[in-house]
Amino acid sequence: MSKTEALQRVKVAKINELPQKIGKVIKIDGHDIALFHLSSGKVRAVENKCPHKQGPLAEGMVSGEYVFCPLHDWKIDLTSGEVQKPDDGCVKTYETEVTDGVVYILL
Ligand code: FES
Repeated sequence: MSKTEALQRVKVAKINELPQKIGKVIKIDGHDIALFHLSSGKVRAVENKCPHKQGPLAEGMVSGEYVFCPLHDWKIDLTSGEVQKPDDGCVKTYETEVTDGVVYILL
């Protein structure tokens, strides 16, 4: 995939091949992304790096719209990227799209 400044739509998975609540690591153009298929059926993508000490969020436990970092259990909102209190921080989020059963990440 080429590096471009324009927003690109990258096909990353088929929705029916993504188990719910299990993070999947996607690497695109230097982005290390944790992709999640939530129990609600929604798909979310965030940087695979906890704002605390770089914990791999794709390995975290998913609960509803949140992931718990596997290292020290920070709770992160997968839609806004915001770390929940009492901790503080924010992780980069990526836009996702599901069309005809195919999951895309917009970069
Ligand atoms: S690295 Fe994620 S909570 Fe510490």
